Amino acid sequence: MSTARLAEKIGEGHLRECFAIKGKPGLCVKRLKPGLSLLQRLHLRLLRRGMHRLEYKTYRRLPPKMKPYFNPVISVAPDHLVAARPLDFDGSHSRPVSHHRQIANKAFWKEVDNLISLFEKYNIWFFDAFQLGENVFVQKLSPTHWRPVIVDYKRQGWRSYPAQLNLLLDSEKKKKFYRKYRRFVNRYKGRPAV
Ligand SMILES: Nc1ncnc2c1ncn2[C@@H]1O[C@H](COP(=O)(O)OP(=O)(O)OP(=O)(O)O)[C@@H](O)[C@H]1O
Ligand SMILES: [Mg+2]
Repeated sequence: MSTARLAEKIGEGHLRECFAIKGKPGLCVKRLKPGLSLLQRLHLRLLRRGMHRLEYKTYRRLPPKMKPYFNPVISVAPDHLVAARPLDFDGSHSRPVSHHRQIANKAFWKEVDNLISLFEKYNIWFFDAFQLGENVFVQKLSPTHWRPVIVDYKRQGWRSYPAQLNLLLDSEKKKKFYRKYRRFVNRYKGRPAV
C-alpha cells in the first residue's frame, strides 16, 4: 500500500495504527506504529511474528455464524493489513463503543447475547473482544437495529500475555474473557450482566 493512498489516521492501539484510504470509505489500513519501544519490538519479534497474517487466518476460520460480528480482514502483506471499515445504514462511519456513553438499543444487546452463546458453543475466547474502549464498534444496520462488530481480534492466547501461562487452559481463557465482558456490560448497558 503506497503512502499516497493513505488518508487520515482513524485510530491507534498499543502496537498498530489505522488509516483511512483515499476514495474507499469502507476500507482501512493497519500497520505497526513507528517508534515502538525496545520491549514492544522484542515481544513482536519473539511472540507475535506474522500478526497481520494470523488475524487474517483467524477471520477466515471463524464459524460462518460468527463472521457477521467480526470485521473482515480483506488482505495482508508483511507490513500491513487491509480491513473493512464498518459503515452504518446511512453510509456514515460506525463509531467505537467508547464513543457512546451508554448503548440504549435492545437489538444491540440481543446481538451481544447471541455472540456470547456462539463463543460458548464453539469454545472460542478472544480476550480483547469486549475490552472497554476501541475494539468493538457499534454498527447501525437501521435506526433501530444496531450490532457489535469486533475490529481487533489478534489476541487469542498466552502469546499475548506471556507472563500468564495459566492462559494455556481453556477454563482460564474463559474466566478472563468473562471478567472483561462483565465490565463492558456494566459500563455500556448500565446493568450488571446476569
Ligand atoms: N476496521 C476498523 N475500522 C475503523 N477503525 C478501526 C478499525 N480497526 C481498528 N480501528 C481503530 O484503530 C485502533 C487501532 O487498531 P487496533 O485495535 O487493531 O490496534 P492494536 O494496536 O492492535 O490494538 P491493541 O492496543 O488493542 O492491541 C482501534 O482501536 C480502532 O479505534
Ligand atoms: Mg485494539
